[in-house]
Amino acid sequence: MRSPFRPLTEVAQELVAAAVQSGDTVVDATAGNGHDTLFLAKQVGPDGHVFAFDVQQAALESTARRLRSFGLGHVTLLQADHCQMATSLPAALRGKLAAAMFNLGYLPGGEKSITTQPNTTLIALQTAMTWLRPGGLITMLIYSGHATGKSELAVLLPFLGEPHPEFLITEIDPQPERQHPPRLFAIQRRPFEETAH
Ligand SMILES: C[S@@+](CC[C@H](N)C(=O)[O-])C[C@H]1O[C@@H](n2cnc3c(N)ncnc32)[C@H](O)[C@@H]1O
Repeated sequence: MRSPFRPLTEVAQELVAAAVQSGDTVVDATAGNGHDTLFLAKQVGPDGHVFAFDVQQAALESTARRLRSFGLGHVTLLQADHCQMATSLPAALRGKLAAAMFNLGYLPGGEKSITTQPNTTLIALQTAMTWLRPGGLITMLIYSGHATGKSELAVLLPFLGEPHPEFLITEIDPQPERQHPPRLFAIQRRPFEETAH
């Protein structure tokens, strides 16, 4: 039977598609098997650029294979923790990123013990917020069905609920009927005209 719930990975991509244009620079904070990296590379086109982070070589190899099969080369794959974003990205990009996607957890089909962690995810999110351009968008997909995901939610929810006057933070398509539903948050930096007065 088909699940009545729309995959939040698809919803996240739709949101990002509306915020990103050809020529933009964007970040995939968790490359994994490269589905989001490929999507981002197509969105920004050959004049844009994608920086994709993952701590695992296996994930980056999987992402590289996917990109190669589509002949897409305007992507820099970084084997680094996304909490090192500020020192891994070119300094000139600060305040210029059009989008950053976080799809938390472990590599599907891979080693489950290598998973995103509450404190480093929080640092990476805070960095991405600082590096986002006005009007830019971060998507954060959190899975609470496993222990580390539950801890991530416990750290991220209070942060997302704090006042962030420069940002509009919204939970998208909540699915309270489900047990341990995945949670998708959109974090948009308000455009200049909204913050100017
Ligand atoms: C759910 S998968 C991402 C799926 C991916 N977005 C896709 O479209 O295929 C999560 C990935 O995050 C990676 N990861 C775990 N901790 C990380 C960290 N601190 N920094 C960057 N990536 C991390 C894992 O290795 C895993 O590949």
